[in-house]
Amino acid sequence: MALINEHYLKLQAGYLFPEIGRRVSEFAAANPDKKIIRMGIGDVTQPLVPTVLKAFHEGVDEQGTAATFKGYGPEQGYEFLRKAIAENAYQANGIDIPADDIIVSDGSKCDTGNIQEIFGADNKIAICDPVYPVYADTTVMSGKTGTCQANGYYEGVIYMPCTEENGFTPELPTERPDLIFLCYPNNPTGTVASKEELTKWVNYARENKCIILFDAAYEAFITDPAIPRSIYEIEGAKDVAIEFRSFSKTAGFTGTRCAFTVIPEEVKAYDSEGNAHSVKKLWLRRHSTKFNGVSYPVQKAAAAVYTPEGKKEVEEVIAYYLENARIMREALKEIGYTVYGGVNAPYVWVKTKGGMSSWDFFDKVLNEANVVGTPGSGFGPAGEGYFRFSAFAGRDNVLEAMERIKNLS
Ligand code: MLT
Repeated sequence: MALINEHYLKLQAGYLFPEIGRRVSEFAAANPDKKIIRMGIGDVTQPLVPTVLKAFHEGVDEQGTAATFKGYGPEQGYEFLRKAIAENAYQANGIDIPADDIIVSDGSKCDTGNIQEIFGADNKIAICDPVYPVYADTTVMSGKTGTCQANGYYEGVIYMPCTEENGFTPELPTERPDLIFLCYPNNPTGTVASKEELTKWVNYARENKCIILFDAAYEAFITDPAIPRSIYEIEGAKDVAIEFRSFSKTAGFTGTRCAFTVIPEEVKAYDSEGNAHSVKKLWLRRHSTKFNGVSYPVQKAAAAVYTPEGKKEVEEVIAYYLENARIMREALKEIGYTVYGGVNAPYVWVKTKGGMSSWDFFDKVLNEANVVGTPGSGFGPAGEGYFRFSAFAGRDNVLEAMERIKNLS
């Protein structure tokens, strides 16, 4: 008899985005004449930039001749990409991260979830509420929680509410966690963390022997030079932080797939006898056993993001999405909504009016304006009464969606 991993039975409902997809498909089937505008899942709409596309094509062509053909590549990524990342994303900004600490993968969603596997089930996890659902769900799947309670919180997880009152900035936990998930610029609230704020977390992690799992998937949207784009801008972070970054939102790779995780050699976790172990070594062990690397043409395309032309073209696309976010913020404010985020982030976090629930607002916006967003409560109980709009849509759709929302009853 095959036995299941019973931790999966603790999971509440389906994963958020497929659930939204299901409701939207139902609506579309019942209303085939309606043009639906999708601003729910943060999926990019602008094509790969020319320099990246050219490199991608070249990589494919190289696979077509025996002299340049490549079979399995290094599981942790080709040296040319790891070096380009280290030099451009870190060393050029004065951050001492060597190529050796960079491990290339096919996505930050997978990495932020899979990283749980190398940490024992007895670890206490701290997560924000609201939060990118992957951190919570994979904590449950990996057996680090009890069941879900009536308030929507899993037993054994340390929740850090991010509310209007605290500016959507979590307080330090009162109970000591072992692993802390932080995401900046934040998904879903679109808030960013100052240098002081991140310093507070790094100092806390150092004093309490915690590891920070820092999701920086949206760092490219930071335009304010005072806001850190990497946790490693903070002194001492290399001892206690793992950083996840992705080409998905930065360079339009949601369908192309390439990301990387940075684990400095200094980051250590402990066995039951208190002996320190290199976390990078464990992650590499997992990675090389379960993953055969991102395809060569994709890595070649990703490396092109760091060429001078690639950087310029990618920045233009980011500016386009940020302009979308600005348009959305302005339009929603104009009709009386309280709006957060969307300045150094591609997400606009909107408070519903009159205490309407997130899902009721979702239904209203879908049924009456035929626009899809993401209900805040899908990111956790503290997201109730909020709604997330993604700025990754095309400009015409953004303008039309805002017009339709203005005309809502
Ligand atoms: C989101 O909409 O929160 C993200 O696109 C989901 C993801 O990156 O996996």
